[in-house]
Amino acid sequence: MSAVIVAIDGPSGTGKSSTSKAVAAALGLSYLDTGAQYRAVTWWMLTNGVPVDDSAAVAAAAERPVIVSGTDPAAPTISVDGTDASGPIRTKEVTSAVSAVSAVPEVRAVITALQRSIAAEAVGGIVVEGRDIGTTVLPDADLKIFLTASPEARASRRSGELKGKEATDLSATREALIKRDAADSGRKASPLKMADDAVEVDTTPLTLEQVVECVVTLVEKAVSAK
Ligand code: DC
Repeated sequence: MSAVIVAIDGPSGTGKSSTSKAVAAALGLSYLDTGAQYRAVTWWMLTNGVPVDDSAAVAAAAERPVIVSGTDPAAPTISVDGTDASGPIRTKEVTSAVSAVSAVPEVRAVITALQRSIAAEAVGGIVVEGRDIGTTVLPDADLKIFLTASPEARASRRSGELKGKEATDLSATREALIKRDAADSGRKASPLKMADDAVEVDTTPLTLEQVVECVVTLVEKAVSAK
């Protein structure tokens, strides 16, 4: 049987990363966090003095950072120019700048090509999470999932993730999240959007375990239909 490709898209705070890692681990698949790649490019731009609001400057530098993603769901890694970037890509500075950087078509072209080559090389298959995986990066995926959740549920999950790392305030987290989703959904280049053939899973009333169980069942069905 050929490798199984699973696309998991949706806005932030819907449990995409936790779900994708757990599904990949349960099924022995690789895992790719495409948001981490856009964050890594953004971190490179910030540390190399590229003005992130200047799309021409960002476009001109798009091919310079060398991004390497480790795809083990138990220990995913991301490095930029050989330096581990797992910590720095989660800072507030990167989070505030990433929507602007990821809206630049030249950045998307470089990262999309990288994502496709990682997916093509994944022995056995891969779970790829992001915003445009089902619509643009891997339109022939065997299964496309679109995770949603209420703004309240998403803000409280994000606050929980940030706890201990940064001062958290639920309403500020909710506002920042809504603003980032609006930017990600409203951009011209490959916006956050559910693919026509995706299965929507509303995670608001579900525990992580329930979401994982639901997605694992859907993957198994997709594999047996292959
Ligand atoms: O999943 P995340 O919050 O780490 O993603 C960070 C940003 O990267 C998000 O605001 C939009 C962008 N992104 C994107 O444009 N396309 C993807 N496939 C994944 C993320």
